Amino acid sequence: MFITIEGGEGTGKTTQAVLLRHFLEEYGREVVTTREPGGTIGAEELRNVILKGDVTKWSSISETLMYYAARYDHLEKKILPALKEGKWVISDRFADSTLAYQYYGYNKQGICLEDLMAIHNVTLKSFAPDLTFILDIDPEIGLRRAGEKLRFEKMDIEFHKRLREGFLEIAKANPSRCVVIDANKSIEEISFALKLEVKKRFFKE
Ligand code: TMP
Repeated sequence: MFITIEGGEGTGKTTQAVLLRHFLEEYGREVVTTREPGGTIGAEELRNVILKGDVTKWSSISETLMYYAARYDHLEKKILPALKEGKWVISDRFADSTLAYQYYGYNKQGICLEDLMAIHNVTLKSFAPDLTFILDIDPEIGLRRAGEKLRFEKMDIEFHKRLREGFLEIAKANPSRCVVIDANKSIEEISFALKLEVKKRFFKE
């Protein structure tokens, strides 16, 4: 199974990915945790190019192309081989982040949806996560929690409000794949909600 964890800044995705991994391992699954942008040597190199530096460094179209270049490398070299070996893969962000950040975040005025979907289809074909958790939080709270300030964390609050709405739109459009989780709860409560959903969907007891 391929599970993705999505959301804005400071939602605790990384912590939840680790907790979910431990849970799955207790159930005897072999699990690979990974992240985007990144996950492979080439994609981690691109991560630095994209995320370090000034907020105006790239346009949303350039960014989209780079995220998908990194994503293809990640898919080809890490995600697909692991799935083929029967492992479960948990990715801290995947394609929904590009739609939320590069399309909704830029107020739909950067890359147009048609072009983004064309790039998406060339790169991923029909590949999609089996399950996506969208960790939802008020961006004012999330930004206070976020650690190192990368490019997007320096964007104004309106950007973050738009991308939150974007993630909620994505969830609405993909109700069987996406589950929205209130990320204002404690780490334990969020983790419990994730595990419950995974059990319900994939483990018959
Ligand atoms: P994170 O490791 O804290 O999630 O940081 C990754 C940053 O990259 C975050 O600010 C969101 C951004 N991002 C995009 O804008 N588009 C994408 O497609 C991905 C994967 C990440």
